[in-house]
Amino acid sequence: MTGTNTTAPLYRDPTSTVDDRALDLLSRMTVEEKVGQMMQLDAREDLPEQVLRQHVGSILHASPERLAIAHELVAQTRLQIPLIVGEDCIHGHSFFEGATIFPTQLGMAASWDPDLLERVARATAKEVAATGVHWTFSPVLCIARDLRWGRINETFGEDPFLIGELASAMVRGYQGDGPNDTTAILATAKHFAGYSETQGGRDASEADISRRKLRSWFLPPFERVAKEGCRTFMLGYQTTDGVPITINDWLLNDVLRGEWGYTGTLITDWDNVGRMVWEQQVQPDYAHAAAAAVKAGNDMVMTTPGFFHGALEAIERGLLVEEDLDPAVSRILRLKFEFGLFENPRHPDASRIDTVLASEPHRTLNREAARRSLVLLRNDGTLPLLNAPDEDAPALSEATPRRVAVVGPLADDAQTQLGDWAGSSGQADWLPNGHPRDMITTTLDGLRLACPADWTIDYAEGANILTLDDDPEGAFFPDGQPRPPLVVPCPPDEKMIAAAVSAARQSDVAVVVVGDRIELVGEGRSTATLELIGGQNALIDAIAETGTPFVLVLLASKPLVLPPSAERAAALLWAANPGMEGGQAIAEVLLGIVEPSGRLPISFARHAGQQPTYYNQIRGQHGNRYADLTQSPAYAFGEGLSYTTVEYDNLRIIGDEYGLDGTVQAEVTVTNTGTRPTREVVQVYIRDQVTSVSWADKELKTYRLVELNPGESQLVSIELDVADCTLVDANATRRVEPGTFELLVGPSSRNEVLLAAPFSVLASG
Ligand code: NOJ
Repeated sequence: MTGTNTTAPLYRDPTSTVDDRALDLLSRMTVEEKVGQMMQLDAREDLPEQVLRQHVGSILHASPERLAIAHELVAQTRLQIPLIVGEDCIHGHSFFEGATIFPTQLGMAASWDPDLLERVARATAKEVAATGVHWTFSPVLCIARDLRWGRINETFGEDPFLIGELASAMVRGYQGDGPNDTTAILATAKHFAGYSETQGGRDASEADISRRKLRSWFLPPFERVAKEGCRTFMLGYQTTDGVPITINDWLLNDVLRGEWGYTGTLITDWDNVGRMVWEQQVQPDYAHAAAAAVKAGNDMVMTTPGFFHGALEAIERGLLVEEDLDPAVSRILRLKFEFGLFENPRHPDASRIDTVLASEPHRTLNREAARRSLVLLRNDGTLPLLNAPDEDAPALSEATPRRVAVVGPLADDAQTQLGDWAGSSGQADWLPNGHPRDMITTTLDGLRLACPADWTIDYAEGANILTLDDDPEGAFFPDGQPRPPLVVPCPPDEKMIAAAVSAARQSDVAVVVVGDRIELVGEGRSTATLELIGGQNALIDAIAETGTPFVLVLLASKPLVLPPSAERAAALLWAANPGMEGGQAIAEVLLGIVEPSGRLPISFARHAGQQPTYYNQIRGQHGNRYADLTQSPAYAFGEGLSYTTVEYDNLRIIGDEYGLDGTVQAEVTVTNTGTRPTREVVQVYIRDQVTSVSWADKELKTYRLVELNPGESQLVSIELDVADCTLVDANATRRVEPGTFELLVGPSSRNEVLLAAPFSVLASG
């Protein structure tokens, strides 16, 4: 024997426990390696600096080429701790060329179908895992409040219960069978919490929000996924009550890790630690900011390169001691051990990429998701274009050759249809042209494919939307992030309008596809107005004047406000960035090959000045309208039409008094009174008649998806635990207050369409 110790270190031994391995590795790490392990940096930047000198534990935004380089660099490091690789795969594998891009989260929320969302997340996880990414920053659990916010599209809409249902489904789908499942990826519940409570829709502005208000609406979806095992949480950008969420001890430690017993990993949002210094100006320097972030219990610090020297300086200056880093570092190491990354670092797998990415089953699933994401908001009987059943509207039968004018700037705009966080939406620089055009069907493609062969399709773009100007304050923010350029709306173009009008005039029907573009969507891109911009309103006005029946397809990331001429549209279909298969799905619904079944997860305003328009507002204001406008939304939460009619009758509660541990049992009859099948979303709301604090007039508590054939009636049973009929009292405690309630059941949140049945909750029993 030479005396050289050839025994592998304990942390390399897969038969040892995760805790032992983490402890062993931690004991071998230098302080620099510990600080680096807490860092996630942008792989588009200096990888050797990040991996070899800053010892980063994680990277994000890595193109396939950069990812390979990063792994090679890790092999040169002393301890060879595998990287954990993160990416925003929020509606499909956003930035991997040729992956399946599903509708946006808001679009999918219109399905109200947790099973569908779980399958979408599962398919996404398989694609993502095959490419060597371990962690997706999805789902978003923010509650949509002010529609002017640029990130409305990333949410599941405005209702905390629906958000909880759908988020929990996506987390299950992503995380699969747990860490040993090589198709599982880590899910992230974000942005914890209150980020969407903007001021005037302005992104990342101070969220003026009390603890009671957080507990009332913003925290419940997060609590649910925390308790169900969502492995990571991302902290929002904003400050609340003067304190950045990143260092909000009450939220992170008392609530999340304390009350909810959360043991997962926390990651900051982009440069939250640096922004405390240069933007929010609540920390004098990076040493203080790093110390505050560590002490608050953050595990991974996203894209604050200055954290490295900041944390080391904090230790030198006595603001931190080295051991303060240990809880975070061991949580990250444990995650890596649990996922078996030391044995199998889950690098990209070429053969899995070949078989899994955009596989036929995933494309089929995507088609289903796209169809289910579409919400029909108005229809005078012109739709469906094939076999219209309404005798008052001239039926366009397959036997009658028809001419369709497809007009509008978004009728054939493939990349815009994908929405934010996809291809060329701006966050990744390695897909400048977006996803392959031939993987995407636009509305024009879809109608060309799906209309009967003897129909004629004419196309005219009709309008331009916008051009861009440089921000006079410079191209970059102080942290080096690009500043979004300024949007300049295009004036109406008479020639383009004339071409569209002429196409409409010679057609039996016009399909007008309008909406927003990526430049009006996303981080730092909130909008002051909700109107269609550029030449789009003028285009709708002109088409309305032709007298040709026209169908508006609103291809918009979020609810927008339409011009008065849109009232003359025969039908209105909302498609919230419906993904790669969106055009086909739109065509199928317009034609009636597929039944429309989406229901709004979010209300549509009539005017930006109505903000906020969410349905579950606190009762008690003077009146219910502005002097110059109703407060009623244009389209309310839960609304959506099908090609049939459904009636609700005989809502009956079995028993009328319940104890606090009781379950309200009710039934309602739903009947398809029309001639086409449908999938009805039977919505169940609760109204607490007298409350000790002002409270929402009604809240969604559960719902059922019911399939009904023409003429079919079903008795739908409803069960609701009294324990769910809570409010948050003046002491910020969630509880049920005994008294009288109403169970409200119907097809949307509008009072006029809800059946009501009273019941009482008794203090005892
Ligand atoms: C900032 C966004 O707010 C967050 O949602 C995203 O996950 C990170 N950037 C990483 O891209």
